[in-house]
Amino acid sequence: MSLKDRYGDWALVAGASEGLGKAWARALAGAGLNVVVVAMDREALEQVAAGIRSDFAVDTRVEVLDLTAPELASRMAALDAELGIGVAVYNASFSPIGPFLEVPLEDKLKVLDVNARGLLIWSDVLGRRMAGRGRGALVLMSSLAGFIGSALVATYAATKAFDTVLGEGLWEELGRRGVDVMVVAPGTIRTPTITKSTPADKLAKLLPMEPEDVVREAVDRLELRSGPTVIPGRFNRWSRQVVGRLLSRRATVRLFSNRIRRTYGGQGA
Ligand SMILES: NC(=O)c1ccc[n+]([C@@H]2O[C@H](COP(=O)([O-])OP(=O)(O)OC[C@H]3O[C@@H](n4cnc5c(N)ncnc54)[C@H](OP(=O)(O)O)[C@@H]3O)[C@@H](O)[C@H]2O)c1
Repeated sequence: MSLKDRYGDWALVAGASEGLGKAWARALAGAGLNVVVVAMDREALEQVAAGIRSDFAVDTRVEVLDLTAPELASRMAALDAELGIGVAVYNASFSPIGPFLEVPLEDKLKVLDVNARGLLIWSDVLGRRMAGRGRGALVLMSSLAGFIGSALVATYAATKAFDTVLGEGLWEELGRRGVDVMVVAPGTIRTPTITKSTPADKLAKLLPMEPEDVVREAVDRLELRSGPTVIPGRFNRWSRQVVGRLLSRRATVRLFSNRIRRTYGGQGA
């Protein structure tokens, strides 16, 4: 059964103005769903929507919204009441990189607000409404970073652990109400956020995946309903298995921290 037949006509991607979110919006449009694209940058969203309209025979809607704003719940509820969202992806995140004590508290709280609080509110509103209809899919973009603590990205990684664990619990709980929940935990992806923050030679060593490849794997797994957690990329799955089995947690924290330090050198903590 197609995603559209199983879940409904409309998809929503939160954080869809570039990179992975844009790839999600285009992939869902390619699967025949109309798409609501949500983010803060109207111009970028309009471009994504125009691209979708010219390449796919679907409808699009641009919603300019800060996912940390108090109206997140009411805006999501209103959109769902009007359109009946079938597939919703929470892709947005905020990820300042640097020593914990040098990242301003205000930024750390923003990480919490975008990556965890916004995602929780969004899951509550859309999960409740989908469960009421007895169908729908929630996709929570997490990260391999959420499996282990690491220097320089401690707060980001902690919020991604929250996303993964929340999503896995919801997979079990909402699955019984007809709502499929899937957590996607990728390794490095060549998105604008990453290319802006990472020197090209160091990025190459992280073996980044392309956004379209990450989304293709995730959509395949959503079609198969094989949640709760998807790790795109054979190498990422292999390294997660090997590291998880062979190394102590202490050694793994050191390993990942040193890798981050090497990548973002000069910011050593
Ligand atoms: N890139 C990687 O290497 C990587 C690796 C593992 C996991 N991930 C996960 O994959 C997801 C996407 O990553 P990414 O690198 O493509 O980009 P990102 O920087 O995490 O997110 C970018 C998108 O989120 C939107 N956004 C950010 N803050 C927002 C806010 N407060 N309200 C509304 N929209 C907001 C941005 O649009 P506006 O600026 O227009 O609002 C943009 O569309 C994230 O969840 C990330 O944790 C990424």
